Amino acid sequence: MKQKIFITTPIYYVNAKPHIGHAYTTVVCDVYARFCRMMGYDVKFSTGTDEHGKKIEQSAIKLNETPKEFTNNISKLFRDLLPVLNISNDDFIRTTEERHINTVQHFWNKLYDNGYIYLGEYKGWYDIRNEAYFDESELVDGKSPLGGEVTYMIEPCYFFKLSAFEDKLLKFYEENPEFIFPISRRNEIISFIKQGLKDLSISRTTFSWGIPVPNDPKHVVYVWLDALTNYLTVNGYPENEDQNNDNYWQNSIHFVGKEIVRFHALYWPAFLMAVGINPPKQIVSHGWWLSEGEKMSKSLGNVQDPVKYCKLFGSDALRYYLLRELPFGADGNFSLNNFINRYNSVLANSYGNLCNRVISFISKYANNTVHKPFTFTDDDINFSNQIKSCIEEAFDNIKNYSFHKYLEKLENAFTLSNQYLDNQKPWLLRNSDVKRMEDVLYVTLEQIYNITNALYPVMPMSSEKLLKSIGIDINNMHSEFPSIIQIVNPEVLFPRIDINNIEKFDVYANN
Ligand code: MSP
Repeated sequence: MKQKIFITTPIYYVNAKPHIGHAYTTVVCDVYARFCRMMGYDVKFSTGTDEHGKKIEQSAIKLNETPKEFTNNISKLFRDLLPVLNISNDDFIRTTEERHINTVQHFWNKLYDNGYIYLGEYKGWYDIRNEAYFDESELVDGKSPLGGEVTYMIEPCYFFKLSAFEDKLLKFYEENPEFIFPISRRNEIISFIKQGLKDLSISRTTFSWGIPVPNDPKHVVYVWLDALTNYLTVNGYPENEDQNNDNYWQNSIHFVGKEIVRFHALYWPAFLMAVGINPPKQIVSHGWWLSEGEKMSKSLGNVQDPVKYCKLFGSDALRYYLLRELPFGADGNFSLNNFINRYNSVLANSYGNLCNRVISFISKYANNTVHKPFTFTDDDINFSNQIKSCIEEAFDNIKNYSFHKYLEKLENAFTLSNQYLDNQKPWLLRNSDVKRMEDVLYVTLEQIYNITNALYPVMPMSSEKLLKSIGIDINNMHSEFPSIIQIVNPEVLFPRIDINNIEKFDVYANN
């Protein structure tokens, strides 16, 4: 039986249109999900939208819409982005769905029945934008440490006994050293806990756009408790009650941006422990994108629109850039100029050129067909071995979430392939040794095939296109390279982009 794995994106706030930062988390998960499927796993992959809370209620009021109308519209933008980015998710969850409301209320009752919820009163400085309370001592220049405006508020509210989990959490991290990736984030969480954990307020009475607390509907459930529970909803809880014996849950990986690690690596395991469910297997965190050197913001007009990139340059090019530019875990800068340079130098000049020149050479000078050679030269064997080790190294890196290194290793394979062709010179062999010319073309094409298979998780569209043009059915990809190859309707992969036309490209969101 296939080993199961459950991969999740965070669920996205619906207060603004999706931008390149959101696309990033989703693409990272998709690449990992496709890689796992390629390795033979049975993958469940979910994404969705996080739709409750005061901020969203307020945004709807501003537009004279009901929260339901407002969330329907923005959630649809996130959902519609998925096919544009070529995302292979199995589920799309909205926190306003009935199935989710049931799960959250069931989960709440469990926490309550197990004695981890009590009614109290909350006093403190509330940051509406980030939906979090802070003590006076935590404020920075009159604002919350997250940068939001704050108001002093007193409200009756339910608390979760987070303080009871200090030792349990520390023991859990100790026993599961890989739970938080990368290690630097793990250290941050551990030192945060060592400063002492306070109980967490988990209900609100100052607005109504949320999931009602069971038996006390003046209160709505705190958005983070609501949102985190989406992972269980997707995995069929509470009908599928025994999550500790569920192989998806036991192998679940939550991919998250660095700013939400605390919610996933600390609150979430504590909530789960309180109802007797094991924490997920791993929390994997990534860094943040700046845009053209600055924080992305509507007022600067530098919000990069993923849909526009896909329309102009194709989803594969965007997926490639997102993973190649940013060392996973670090912050980085998204720039159109740099995007085009990477596209031209790697996708057009190196990989695209390799594929296009071999395929068109076979069409023109080998009657569209190549056969497996009877014998291979030392050069052929060395070349094949070199590519094999590039691919092995690439896979070792992707397993550790080093997506940029995985691509770097495959780029080495493009370079080696172009070098092999340049050394073997099939264009000269055409006049001196046609048999050897065909052998060289076959050997190169076989390695193009291997590299293309390895690239598939990042660039599924062009991989499929290439395989089709060498007559290989997509369902047979990853199988042994056929001994006869016939070229059919080749299409040019990754035509060059004219950088002189850069002003022409409209890549920013309009509003
Ligand atoms: N709704 C919460 C998550 C709840 S999960 C139970 C949330 N939503 S979010 O829309 O603000 O962010 C979702 C994801 O987008 C996060 O992983 C976040 O890091 C990512 N990004 C949003 N802007 C980003 C950048 N500029 N750069 C990289 N990723 C960023 O948090």
